[in-house]
Amino acid sequence: MSFIDKFLEASASENVDASESIEEKVKRIYGAVVKERKPVRNPSLMVKLLREEFKLIVDERIVYLTVAAFLNNRPVLFEGPPGTGKTEIGEAILTLWAGKSAFILPCSNNYDEYRVIGDFHPLMALKYGFNEKSFIPRPLLAALLLDAGVLVDEIRRSSEEFQNMLLDIVDKRRIIVPELKKVFYAKGIGFQVIFTSNPEDIGQTELSDAFMRRVVRIQFDYPPPKVEVEIIKLRLGNSVEFPDHLIAKMVEVAKILRQRATYKPGPADTVLWAQIAAKMATLKGLKRVDKNSVIEAATVVLYKRVGEEELVDEALRRVFGD
Ligand SMILES: Nc1ncnc2c1ncn2[C@@H]1O[C@H](COP(=O)(O)OP(=O)(O)O)[C@@H](O)[C@H]1O
Ligand SMILES: [Mg+2]
Repeated sequence: MSFIDKFLEASASENVDASESIEEKVKRIYGAVVKERKPVRNPSLMVKLLREEFKLIVDERIVYLTVAAFLNNRPVLFEGPPGTGKTEIGEAILTLWAGKSAFILPCSNNYDEYRVIGDFHPLMALKYGFNEKSFIPRPLLAALLLDAGVLVDEIRRSSEEFQNMLLDIVDKRRIIVPELKKVFYAKGIGFQVIFTSNPEDIGQTELSDAFMRRVVRIQFDYPPPKVEVEIIKLRLGNSVEFPDHLIAKMVEVAKILRQRATYKPGPADTVLWAQIAAKMATLKGLKRVDKNSVIEAATVVLYKRVGEEELVDEALRRVFGD
């Protein structure tokens, strides 16, 4: 028995079943993590479920625009500062739309088609050649075949070549695998794509005009203070009493830092700040969160850049007093 045969026997049918089709492989590999539910494509019902089920407060306009884009099979680009919910909201909308858990592709500059579409198992390829038997499907191909949504996170971190490859697939709703001499087509309208990006992040590639022309771009921004307070309360649940005036002040501090600091805390940070303050108060045996717990929790969440501690302290003093 050759080394390859031994290896293939050892990895058993669990990993390498030579008679399986790509579709079957996708179902076996990804089926277990993709949860199915009834698709929801009505924007106002989506807004309601986003809040109740996903604990996300989403502007109705964002949901309407996204659904309108999907109905035209157009990809959507969520652009805006960090911590404004782009990734979580994108994933949740795709999940509701397709009625299946969305796939997430976190981008980096060495991401390529082999990592997102598929590649060949080296030993299987030696034994069987470069064909379906030795091909391992990756998430983008899986999403297409399962009719699920795809969130391409931080698209600016990928290369232009990668971006163009994605657009071609999304436009034509098919994936070509030349090595297999095969074309895979989308099975339904569940397969939709949302890109996220933070244009202010330094050292990232610009998105080309060709890219921008093909996507529906939706701008994200920090929510109005009242909405941010609501977001924090929704995320806190009712584990411990948290006075409204303290939450409002936390949002005020964040607002000052967004104007003046280089690390701009988003709602993701104010939510974490509130959650840590609440836990601190509980650990101290308090029935209600107090100002001290809020201030103590502030440092761990807001001190992000060396040299900016003074800016944070000053904002805290200005809003909470000494
Ligand atoms: N609109 C929102 N509704 C609920 N939570 C939000 C919202 N925006 C931000 N958050 C908070 O931020 C987190 C998600 O941020 P994330 O999706 O990572 O932001 P981004 O991708 O824009 O950097 C959530 O876990 C929650 O704590
Ligand atoms: Mg994100």
